[in-house]
Amino acid sequence: HKRIEKFPDDFLFGAGTSSFQVEGGIKEGGRGIAVHDLKKPKKGITDFSVASDHYHRFEEDIELMKELGLNSYRFSISWVRILPDGKNINKEGLDFYNRLIQKLTDSGIEPIVTIYHFEYPKALVDKYKGWLSRESIEDYVNFAGILFSNYGDRVKYWLTINEQDHLLKIPERIGFPAEMTGLEYERNAQTANYNMCVAAAKVTELCHKMIPGAKIAPIINPMPAIPASNLPDDLIASMEFNELSAYYMLDLNCRGKYSPVYRKYLEDRDIFPEINDDDMKLMKDNPPDFIAVNYYMNQTIAVSSIKEIALRGKEVFVSEEVGIYKIAKNEYIPQTDWGWNICPEGLKIAIMEIYNRYQLPMLITENGLGAYDKLENGEIHDSYRIDYISRHLSQVKDCISLGFPVFGYYAWSFIDLVSGREGMDKRYGFVYVNRDNDDLKDLSRIKKDSYYWYKKTIAERGQDL
Ligand code: BG6
Repeated sequence: HKRIEKFPDDFLFGAGTSSFQVEGGIKEGGRGIAVHDLKKPKKGITDFSVASDHYHRFEEDIELMKELGLNSYRFSISWVRILPDGKNINKEGLDFYNRLIQKLTDSGIEPIVTIYHFEYPKALVDKYKGWLSRESIEDYVNFAGILFSNYGDRVKYWLTINEQDHLLKIPERIGFPAEMTGLEYERNAQTANYNMCVAAAKVTELCHKMIPGAKIAPIINPMPAIPASNLPDDLIASMEFNELSAYYMLDLNCRGKYSPVYRKYLEDRDIFPEINDDDMKLMKDNPPDFIAVNYYMNQTIAVSSIKEIALRGKEVFVSEEVGIYKIAKNEYIPQTDWGWNICPEGLKIAIMEIYNRYQLPMLITENGLGAYDKLENGEIHDSYRIDYISRHLSQVKDCISLGFPVFGYYAWSFIDLVSGREGMDKRYGFVYVNRDNDDLKDLSRIKKDSYYWYKKTIAERGQDL
């Protein structure tokens, strides 16, 4: 089909970060303790205490964004900088983000804010077990309301919860004890999931009341399945994989409904949470304005021969009643050094499927390549990252040409940051941070080859893609 020559003039060309992965300064500015602070880092890896030192260098970093030509920047606000104990406001925290947002808007960069990106106050876990309690809903709404009243004059795009679908699989990020496993874990995760959905609906309603013209969305990380063969059962297994890994979430956020496959999955295991009609109505009445999609990889799915009731989140996902599936290899799809599938077409599949199901505009809020970068004579030649991002961005261009309403793309990440599980070994940024896991060095910023490539791409509005 015919393709547009360039991306539209108002397309948001951005890049993103999250507070705990980039800021550091965890003992400064009155910041409280977040749940992931408690995890013992292994040999410097996943130690977030200094991270990329953005807390002290954000002005220099925004200058680099400006020079790159970003017209938008996605970042998250640390809950524990604003409310160290989950309840009382810390003015220093408010001031920090005030200065950051002001510097962005003064630089002509549209801020897009993730309200909650994995950073949950430990105090609320101690007080009432965090998301397991209904009290968590009001505390999240309170936090969001503080952000809306302080920054709503300048921030028009908001994101409720980062990757709730993945977050619920990582115990230390939701404050569940490590010993909680199996069915008990799943049952509690379902309660937390429900409370988060209610909380997100309330915050969506509040955002629309408090900030005229603002837009707000949930963020999901879909991994659209490709059937392993032309066996019809492989296609059914793929569809069920999509239902249980992504759509279940969006059906709740966009329609206030448990999708049939998801409901059956929960009922068969006797883990369907306690729900009430008022909450479900609240969700239905407060759908998001758009859908934010983080895309890194897809999966290839085959029907499984194992017949037993099992839980999601394991390598083999099986269930007699609702279908059976397992993750399969795909000879056409290469992988990153960390075994993540590289399939740009998967992004197109996600965009097409999500739009056809929900008819909402979309933002691609994360997409990027984690890789070992080498600093050689002050330069980083990351052609692999240029290749990855250009091929994914090209799929976005294709989708826009086809008429799908994607209005922005945010590469992950603007600057190197501490990867969730691999520390500084697995780098994502356009800007290199001169440190490694064990040695903080001088933390200086160095532009990678991909920085110059993205700069040119933005300036030409993607005409070479
Ligand atoms: C996304 C998260 O799921 O994946 C990011 O929103 C994260 O916070 C990114 O950094 C990449 O994952 P990882 O484990 O390589 O850091």
